[in-house]
Amino acid sequence: MLAVYFDQPGDPSNLYLKEVAKPEPGPGEVLLKVAASALNRADVLQRRAQYHPPEGASNILGLEVSGHVAKIGPSCQGPWKEGQPAMALLAGGGQAEYAVVPEVCLMPIPSGLTLTQAAAIPEAWLTAFQLLHLVGQVKAGETVLIHAGSSGVGTAAVQLARLAGAIPLITAGSQDKIEAVKKLGAAAGFNYKEEDFSAATLEFTKGAGANVILDCIGGSYWEKNVACLALDGRWVLYGLLGGAEVHGELLSKLLAKRGNLFTSLLRSRDKKYKAELVSAFTQQILPHFAQDKPRALRPVVDSVYPLKQVAEAHEYMEQNKNLGKIVLEVASGLGSQ
Ligand SMILES: NC(=O)c1ccc[n+]([C@@H]2O[C@H](COP(=O)([O-])OP(=O)(O)OC[C@H]3O[C@@H](n4cnc5c(N)ncnc54)[C@H](OP(=O)(O)O)[C@@H]3O)[C@@H](O)[C@H]2O)c1
Repeated sequence: MLAVYFDQPGDPSNLYLKEVAKPEPGPGEVLLKVAASALNRADVLQRRAQYHPPEGASNILGLEVSGHVAKIGPSCQGPWKEGQPAMALLAGGGQAEYAVVPEVCLMPIPSGLTLTQAAAIPEAWLTAFQLLHLVGQVKAGETVLIHAGSSGVGTAAVQLARLAGAIPLITAGSQDKIEAVKKLGAAAGFNYKEEDFSAATLEFTKGAGANVILDCIGGSYWEKNVACLALDGRWVLYGLLGGAEVHGELLSKLLAKRGNLFTSLLRSRDKKYKAELVSAFTQQILPHFAQDKPRALRPVVDSVYPLKQVAEAHEYMEQNKNLGKIVLEVASGLGSQ
């Protein structure tokens, strides 16, 4: 089969499609014929050798896919049958013609969504769901400050925060992005390039601050985050787009707020954790994607690339141009390179 590959870590131009062995599903696994796979920052970091796949995972890029069940491995327990459409969370291996998935990480495609839209759901939405509910313990009426509000994870988190009855605020790097994310449910948005998001959050909350902060920025935001965290607030760190270094009195400032700092990574979680997360998301959230509902959830697809243009897709993401997800079409996107 063809798969996205790189021989040396580095620029997007190192990426190409390579003929590799088609994987075989092991016990409890299913083989999917991939229709589409969305891009994530993790793919960019892995391409630069800054984020390695967990032990045992495929070293092919791609953390989420949609497609059709092509083969059921031995001792599978679930309801899946060959030919059924499905979407799945992966620890790697999605940007290829076929991918092997633990059956517990498969989900049905919400009615009314295309396979291309469905590919934009698993990694971003399961991450946002996990951060808000399992880690951040968000409650109705609370204020949630969501950094990179226009990202794949951010656009999911805003909609999920609204669904939970919370009040989402976002940061983003342009007014266009802010206006678009307000349409998804953000109560307010702050352009971090032009204003102090911390002061703006305190003003919005009349001095109380954000009860939960979903933070994929890290180093460059720490001081402003602590300044606008509510007393007893939960600061959930899940990425380091703004660097990993902290200079200054983080601990005393956090202590003065009685603040809780949590960190979370989804990819390296074990199979049992992912199975429970996928099951909770399937039961509690997937029904809200039914498009006949007034506030239906929707995956935000910014752009679609054929798989053979994976290098262009990486460049576009690294330039921070996307609002929502970048999807790679695999089944129809191989063509001649
Ligand atoms: N821990 C986990 O389990 C987990 C899982 C999934 C994703 N993540 C993390 O979540 C983050 C978002 O991932 P994604 O794939 O959804 O991203 P994405 O769609 O590529 O969006 C990222 C956005 O972040 C903003 N940004 C980039 N660098 C920034 C900086 N230095 N300061 C402020 N804003 C910056 C840019 O928007 P602007 O135009 O607004 O600047 C950019 O478009 C990444 O850090 C990723 O590693 C973590």
